[in-house]
Amino acid sequence: MAVKSPGLTPLHEHSLKVILDNQNEGGGYLACPVMPDYQFSWFRDGAFIAYALTVDGTLNPIPHAVGRNAQWDSADRFHRWCARMINSRAAAIERTIARAANGEPLVLADTLNARYQLHGDPGPDDWPEFQLDGPAIWLWSLTKYVDVCRVRPLPLEWEQAVELTARYLAAIWQSPCNDCWEERGTEVHVSTLAAIFAGLNAAEYLVPRLNFSAVKDAIQKFIFAQGITPGYELAKAVGLDMVDANLLLAALPDFGLLKPDDPLMQRTIARIERDLLAQGHGVHRHRADTYYGGGAWVLLGLWLAWYYTQIGQPERAQEILGWAEAHADADGNLPEQVKDVMFAPDFYEPWVQKRGEIAQPLLWTHAKYLLVRNALAT
Ligand code: BGC
Repeated sequence: MAVKSPGLTPLHEHSLKVILDNQNEGGGYLACPVMPDYQFSWFRDGAFIAYALTVDGTLNPIPHAVGRNAQWDSADRFHRWCARMINSRAAAIERTIARAANGEPLVLADTLNARYQLHGDPGPDDWPEFQLDGPAIWLWSLTKYVDVCRVRPLPLEWEQAVELTARYLAAIWQSPCNDCWEERGTEVHVSTLAAIFAGLNAAEYLVPRLNFSAVKDAIQKFIFAQGITPGYELAKAVGLDMVDANLLLAALPDFGLLKPDDPLMQRTIARIERDLLAQGHGVHRHRADTYYGGGAWVLLGLWLAWYYTQIGQPERAQEILGWAEAHADADGNLPEQVKDVMFAPDFYEPWVQKRGEIAQPLLWTHAKYLLVRNALAT
């Protein structure tokens, strides 16, 4: 679609175009249109994309349908897609909730997938599908849309999906699962717990008759008892003296586990800066990362920049934004990560052999780009 607006920079316009062009009619976004393994729609990627569009539609509305700009129209279709994905799996989700209540083990076939084909079937089986952060982040993202676009009362299908998702997360939050990097499926990840906390908060806000205070309390206590490093930072996972840039999930705006300026969050960020901030501003995921050599993620650099805007450090955010812009290709496509600095360079080629070049454009990176630009502009 043609995206032109007098106030926008070419990269801002291109980011919108990449996102809007890679959403199908049903509402799902491709994570990346060129990498075969990423030609699916994820709750997590899409939730951040829809959030970024919701904000962008307020500040830079691109004319579209009557009463609705292109950004809000797209976010709306994504939220409908999520609600459909979830509601159409209600029977399986209810079985999972019932099993958890009876103390029975989890059956993976009855859990939500991480990635779906655009018409709604799950992606191929050879993927670490069990990830609890994605649906939780969707709940958080939906609050922004509902507030900004004044969607009250919630459409019935949304209310059903919100309640179902929240009950599902509340029932199995303690289960080990893959983290948002789709790794280490036998561990309990603090970032995932933080996302679930935010998701339950969001669900209560969206459907006020819901009350998850006992579970939220339990999650908080669990994190403080088992998810803190000896140096008093949030830990990557239970029992690890290590951080992960995904701990930025702990400070999701409005509904997050910690306020951005909470001392524990600030200590966690300080360690992320020490251990993971690459020279030149990209951010590595974690010190044991070997995916495409464990490069510097543009997505994460921008996420850190977004965090800096929330704690009143726009200059640092601006520097990272400039670095990210310098990594757009000639067409303006932003990648997932870059290989200027790698933790494990020997692993770069094997991943290229397996999956092809690093994903570019990655829609989620473009979404983070929009978030930072808009945060700096307001
Ligand atoms: C990342 C996920 C992401 C997916 C699609 C994976 O490599 O680890 O966080 O959802 O790519 O972008």
